[in-house]
Amino acid sequence: DSAIPAASELSSAVQLGAPVSKEVTVLYGSQTGNAKGLAQQLSRRLEGEGLKVTTVSMGDLKPNQLKKIERLVLLVSTHGEGEPPDAAISFYEFLHSKRAPKLEGLEFSVLALGDTSYEFFCQTGKDFDQRLEELGGKRIVERADCDVDYDETATEWTNQVLAALNVGHAVAAGTIQVNSSQVTGGLADGDSSAYSRTNPFKAEILENLNLNGRGSERETRHIELSLEGSGLQYQPGDCLAIYPENHPQLVQDILEAMGWSGEQLVTFNKNGEQKSLRDALLTHYEITVLTKPLLTQAAALTGHAQLQQLIQVGHEAELKSYLNRRDLLDLIQDFSLKGHTAQEITSILRKIPPRQYSISSSPTAYPEEVHITVRTVNYESYGRERYGVCSTQLAQRAEVGEHLPVYIQQNDQFRLPDNPDTPIIMIGPGTGVAPFRAFLGEREEAGATGKSWLFYGDQHFITDFLYQIEWQRWLKDGVLTRMDVAFSRDTAEKVYVQHRMLEHSRELFAWLEEGAVVYVCGDEKRMAHDVQTTLLQIIEREGALNSEQAAQYLAGMQQEKRYLRDVY
Ligand code: 2AM
Repeated sequence: DSAIPAASELSSAVQLGAPVSKEVTVLYGSQTGNAKGLAQQLSRRLEGEGLKVTTVSMGDLKPNQLKKIERLVLLVSTHGEGEPPDAAISFYEFLHSKRAPKLEGLEFSVLALGDTSYEFFCQTGKDFDQRLEELGGKRIVERADCDVDYDETATEWTNQVLAALNVGHAVAAGTIQVNSSQVTGGLADGDSSAYSRTNPFKAEILENLNLNGRGSERETRHIELSLEGSGLQYQPGDCLAIYPENHPQLVQDILEAMGWSGEQLVTFNKNGEQKSLRDALLTHYEITVLTKPLLTQAAALTGHAQLQQLIQVGHEAELKSYLNRRDLLDLIQDFSLKGHTAQEITSILRKIPPRQYSISSSPTAYPEEVHITVRTVNYESYGRERYGVCSTQLAQRAEVGEHLPVYIQQNDQFRLPDNPDTPIIMIGPGTGVAPFRAFLGEREEAGATGKSWLFYGDQHFITDFLYQIEWQRWLKDGVLTRMDVAFSRDTAEKVYVQHRMLEHSRELFAWLEEGAVVYVCGDEKRMAHDVQTTLLQIIEREGALNSEQAAQYLAGMQQEKRYLRDVY
């Protein structure tokens, strides 16, 4: 009976323990799945600590639920020029509107995900953080802003949140660490595979073809990779992430400009692991993108007056223009970084971020394989030829039989409808067509009967009609109901996909009224923007609505997950 605690002991234990009765809401706004993965991970930890946790996407939170929340942890990513994820837009607008409720009594903390190479770094998270306070909320842990390599910052913030919620008692001292593979476990089908963002799978290249014909201004690689033995699984709509290698020539040029030997060893992580400098510059560090934090650290290191000026308040436009289309070699040359040690310089570089590509294969049609469709990026700036890191590696140096470190980036936002009878409209010029090859492959395998309509475009019919034979076969077999193409440079006047949409405006609207799901994939700034304007125009015209009503119609579709975008 000594195992049974005395009543007095019991009550004091309760008094000393955490107040576990209060509920915590974990609210996330995710575009590519990182915020969602972190949210799920955090929820699991909070539940493990005995808290009652509600985990919800901003896209699914009803406005009147907000007032009832007492403790809120909010995780949100920023994309594009400081915009919220698509699924977070209506909640973001609601919270920033006059309709937003007073939130006195709310305890909250925000984790912001972003990328320091963008001007409006973590803007959405900053906005939410500020707005929650304005509405009367009390911040229990300072907001943390994460760069692309987010694990460490996210782990620290998580530990602080746990401590502030008075759970995970040893956590505050940092004795309990969130294992980084745990943090991302929810993202990459971690449940079924040992491979994830922090432990990529080395996938063998099975095929690497240029899809463009001779004479094209484009080069688009169709790459097939083997997932055999990895346990990695994906769904149509998901992305494949690749850890790329930098261009050997750029690495060589940097070594020469600094007068460094590539064979010297550098320590590249906190565990003290070492690599040769050449290897570290090839595989570990980002050397093609400049960020404000990098310039700030370089200014502190070198004391270079001009560089220090560039990062000062009041010089934002100058800084923005300097950062654009320049790389580490420019920084070295422009601000005479020579003379600093390799360890000094590498310690201020970011880790090379993985590149994500929409998967272009159906997992059912190609078991144990994954296909991607990658346009080679290269351009000239400041008198030098520049190469897209991953696309150029794939085009020039990725031979069949070699292996690439990859993982699956889930994209729950971009899914085929559950009901195979639901009509789908797919708008994907250029490489934007990639996920639609996966969609139609999947629908074919499933024998789905819903109608489908593809809008495709590129420069020239003869050389740039990606996967032409496959679309034509699907049209013939009825897997694809309709296809409209716009080749922009075959005629005197440019034609784009949105022109084709407008030409068929009545029919397109009829599909919307029948419940069609609209997918847009590809270039964000110009194409996806213009396509949206056109959709609104079509809804306005064919639905006999004014512009406000048309906007509501499209917002309604977004709410119902019938207007989905995978844009970059
Ligand atoms: P362009 O290069 O001839 O201008 C795939 O890249 C296709 O998208 C190309 O045909 C390209 O045309 C076209 N494109 C460029 N800007 C666009 C826009 N704003 N809307 C739709 N398509 C666009």
